[in-house]
Amino acid sequence: MDVGTALASVQAIKGALLLLSALALTSYKWPVDKPLSDSATCDYIVIGAGTAGSVMANRLSEDPRSIVCVIEAGGDPPLETEIPSLFAYLPKTYMDWNFISEDDGYTAQYRQQTYLNLAQGKVLGGSSSLNHFYHIRGDPKDYDDWATATGDDTWSWQNLIPYFIKSERIEDPYILNSQSSKYCGTNGYMGITRESRDLPLKYLEAFKEMGHKIIENVNAGDTLGFFLPMFTIFGGVRQSSAESFLSPIKNRENLFIMKNTLVTKIVIDENLQATGVECKTSDGTSITILAQKEIIVSAGAFNSPKLLMLSGIGPKEHLESFGISVVSDLPVGENSQDHMAVILVHQLEETNDTLTSDPSQFPVPTFVGFGAIDKTQSYPDYVTLNLISRNSPAALMQLCSSVFSLHENICAQIYAAGEGREVLFSVLSLGRPLSRGQVRLQSTNPEDPPKIYTGFLSATLDLQNYVDSILDFVRVTESSYFTGVGAQTIYFDFPNCSSATNIRDYWECYVLHMMDTTFHYSATCPMGTVLDSSLKVVGVNKLRVVDASAMPNLTSGNINAAVVVLAEKAADIIKRSQSCE
Ligand SMILES: Cc1cc2nc3c(=O)[nH]c(=O)nc-3n(C[C@H](O)[C@H](O)[C@H](O)COP(=O)(O)OP(=O)(O)OC[C@H]3O[C@@H](n4cnc5c(N)ncnc54)[C@H](O)[C@@H]3O)c2cc1C
Ligand SMILES: *[C@@H]1O[C@H](CO)[C@@H](O)[C@H](O)[C@H]1NC(C)=O
Ligand SMILES: *[C@@H]1O[C@H](CO)[C@@H](O)[C@H](O)[C@H]1NC(C)=O
Ligand SMILES: *[C@@H]1O[C@H](CO)[C@@H](O)[C@H](O)[C@H]1NC(C)=O
Repeated sequence: MDVGTALASVQAIKGALLLLSALALTSYKWPVDKPLSDSATCDYIVIGAGTAGSVMANRLSEDPRSIVCVIEAGGDPPLETEIPSLFAYLPKTYMDWNFISEDDGYTAQYRQQTYLNLAQGKVLGGSSSLNHFYHIRGDPKDYDDWATATGDDTWSWQNLIPYFIKSERIEDPYILNSQSSKYCGTNGYMGITRESRDLPLKYLEAFKEMGHKIIENVNAGDTLGFFLPMFTIFGGVRQSSAESFLSPIKNRENLFIMKNTLVTKIVIDENLQATGVECKTSDGTSITILAQKEIIVSAGAFNSPKLLMLSGIGPKEHLESFGISVVSDLPVGENSQDHMAVILVHQLEETNDTLTSDPSQFPVPTFVGFGAIDKTQSYPDYVTLNLISRNSPAALMQLCSSVFSLHENICAQIYAAGEGREVLFSVLSLGRPLSRGQVRLQSTNPEDPPKIYTGFLSATLDLQNYVDSILDFVRVTESSYFTGVGAQTIYFDFPNCSSATNIRDYWECYVLHMMDTTFHYSATCPMGTVLDSSLKVVGVNKLRVVDASAMPNLTSGNINAAVVVLAEKAADIIKRSQSCE
């Protein structure tokens, strides 16, 4: 098989799924569409029903006196979003905003195209309806730094634990009978299960031999080590934020969800008060919806800054260059962060057995590792997500060319490595990268995508930190399991890396060739500069941003759990501020 064939088969399956979606097999689960008419008045308007927006919709509508209106650009999640094994078929479809990065002439040069595909959900549940299920809170230091950034200790790890617990529903006996059970939620809306297959255990042992710890429950605060991850999967079904937080309350009479409707502008009056939103409904009509209490922006880390800028909130010069009158001059879109992925591949023992995959599970056995370059440090420098495949080059091809969009020469080499072999496919990221990107307006047309500069590797130290992290990770080839089966790191053959004369130079070149995004876009409207510590937009009343944009800095690890908690806390802040009035 070649990349073309692999992509064609993914495309054919996507076509079949699109046909199937006409049956609307899952629509009974979702709140019905409740279109609002022009000038309708709500207490709260929530913009976007993604990870954060679905939490907000649920928590704010707990009070039956509050009229909560949610406006979402996408529609209902189809069946394939619910089946865990199908995640490779979700991006680059109608459920994806299909954003791409600007070509920076440096990264993303050796790929199918010289830009990155920045998948982001355009559907109820947002990106949590497309994501890869890893449920990882991150390191306590990440949150303690949020508390420092905001000057508000309520954002510290200790103080956020109750919100993590509130969101989760864990029934796994291994976790509940462990020392760490007091850190876990058992009654929350979001069902969580844990990797239960045995295949990863030999890898955990191999990393242990190299001096890494094996961790029982990474979400209990001790993150440095390797472990079996938890997933946002429960009863075999994806626990998107829509599944978790909207489906159970779909009949609340005070909750109005308007689907397939794009918010085009936040209306701000002369008293610098956000009063409503302009939007374009599914039939193309422009209407205005009014908010009596607050407007809550949860449109994701690219669309939230775009919407603020279209509404006059952002860097003065940039807005003025588009003739937008400035309401509040703030560094919106300036601090953009993401975990850049570097793909590493190891070829292990010969095998003719293929793993049979159960569609209700994460597609392949997996484990996660958090490592530090400086072994005396108590928090991680890098994070690795590791997927195991056995004699299934076609599955590797999907990862290589569909989930990620690596160059066809690379996918061909991975395909060859996967025939008759066990393969370890690892995604390595710096937990706290130094590089920053930018989100800018392309035009004043709300239907145009924003310009997204990832800024990957723009801080030169990041490249060195990637090399150090890779060198630390690949030491595992010296472990008894790896040596025993004759394991090999795949040193890909890249035309431009042949001049590298030492291993550091080779890995530097490698990083530039084997990079992609892990889809953790964040920090584009951060607390500390754009927002205050109660998530209010500085200089504007009755307006908050509560999604991944609001993080001051990235958390180490996958960020969905952090976004859920940020929204859980935001809902509490809002409810408390209202009860004081
Ligand atoms: C492919 C992929 C894999 C990932 N894997 C993982 C993982 O394994 N683990 C993990 O923890 N995280 C993962 N993530 C990241 C995580 O899912 C996201 O960080 C998180 O969902 C972001 O939440 P959010 O609320 O900020 O934005 P989103 O969930 O993206 O929600 C934004 C919502 O706003 C809507 N919207 C946007 N603009 C407008 C507008 N103008 N008008 C109306 N509605 C609008 C969108 O349609 C969307 O529904 C992954 C993400 C992707 C894309
Ligand atoms: C490889 O090198 C050539 C010549 O220097 C350059 O034009 C090209 O952009 C490089 N490609 C990559 C992927 O780095
Ligand atoms: C965010 O991260 C950068 C780089 O790691 C660090 O220098 C900065 O202090 C962090 N900011 C906050 C507010 O924690
Ligand atoms: C796999 O099958 C081939 C061909 O039948 C055989 O030569 C090889 O020994 C088998 N390998 C293993 C590990 O069973």
